[in-house]
Amino acid sequence: MRKLNLIVAVCENGGIGINGDLPWRLKNELRYFSSMTKKVNNPSKRNAVIMGRKTYFGVPESKRPLPGRLNIVLTRDPNANSYPSEVMVCTSMQDALAKLDDPKFTDDIENVWIVGGNVVYKEAMESPRCHRIYLTEVMKTFTCDAFFPEITTDFKAVKDSEVPEELQEENGIQYRYKVYEKIN
Ligand SMILES: NC(=O)c1ccc[n+]([C@@H]2O[C@H](COP(=O)([O-])OP(=O)(O)OC[C@H]3O[C@@H](n4cnc5c(N)ncnc54)[C@H](OP(=O)(O)O)[C@@H]3O)[C@@H](O)[C@H]2O)c1
Repeated sequence: MRKLNLIVAVCENGGIGINGDLPWRLKNELRYFSSMTKKVNNPSKRNAVIMGRKTYFGVPESKRPLPGRLNIVLTRDPNANSYPSEVMVCTSMQDALAKLDDPKFTDDIENVWIVGGNVVYKEAMESPRCHRIYLTEVMKTFTCDAFFPEITTDFKAVKDSEVPEELQEENGIQYRYKVYEKIN
């Protein structure tokens, strides 16, 4: 059974998005997102990213589907929008995970990353498949209309040697990379 890792940037008031977009511009943080979600041990494989419909359409048109990764979009209405043929459109998380568990994907897909938004994160965090949350703590408050679910006591902070520990700063905004692991 495949494990799930989440990756998210969260500001001080728990916000992750506003009007379908990110509340901040942090180029290096986006590079971190890209490198974490693309990283594979086996160079003949790639990773999958699972996201809700709003997160997918929040990515600038020129940058979606996210390159180098199998993009899986969750929507209850797969016909409402036209998606490029390389995007896998699924009507539920179970549908997506069942497809990824199929042997035809085991040769292709190494890791599965959950990249938002709110309900998709929540469902993944509650799943017994959930392994880690790679969380960027943005040390500022922003007006948001999408929020990250509460991190319960089922998670504890851990270290990952590939994640920088030092305080980051861009455009006068400080942030820090954190990793939580599910213990229950
Ligand atoms: N800071 C970060 O790291 C980060 C990460 C991701 C997103 N964001 C931001 O967050 C906002 C988007 O997040 P959001 O929570 O509003 O929306 P979202 O989760 O991206 O999209 C919600 C939609 O996804 C579909 N969906 C979600 N769960 C589903 C499920 N289990 N089964 C089938 N379909 C499902 C539904 O689409 P239908 O209505 O089509 O059925 C639902 O309306 C944007 O502002 C984005 O920029 C920020």
